[in-house]
Amino acid sequence: MTHRILFVCLGNICRSPAAEGVFRIRAPHHTTDSAGTMGWHVGNAPYGPMQKAASARGVDLSDLRARQFTARDFDDFDLIIGMDANNIADIEDRRPRGNTTPVQLLTEFAPQTGADHVPDPYYTRDFDGALDLIEAAVTGLDAHLSR
Ligand code: 4NP
Repeated sequence: MTHRILFVCLGNICRSPAAEGVFRIRAPHHTTDSAGTMGWHVGNAPYGPMQKAASARGVDLSDLRARQFTARDFDDFDLIIGMDANNIADIEDRRPRGNTTPVQLLTEFAPQTGADHVPDPYYTRDFDGALDLIEAAVTGLDAHLSR
């Protein structure tokens, strides 16, 4: 079964495009996109240091462009996945009345890591740490969707 999965972070230039890039390789039969709760970077390619760290793992993010999350995404996707609690709150603020699309944290799909969010590498500068978490969680997500 094909699912429509949307990954969401703050800027849509680090964590969510990385999740999209890893997931579309791991699970190409699903429809995948990403968006940011903020519009600062709309139209931009993923952040250079994140592209470089992803590329070193064979994940090409260069074709992705940032866009802002909108209320319409609740209708266009089957599952919306945020990177931290702030993302979840900002997503929920836009939920249309009556809509029941599930919104979950990416780390819920990697309980073995003990992480409760994906720290923002734009601030931590730990791009590899973010990618480690994202790769583990995306593997869990793929298994979850196959069940
Ligand atoms: P992201 O990281 O939410 O993982 O894309 C950020 C990128 C840019 C900014 C904040 C977070 N910024 O403040 O410009």
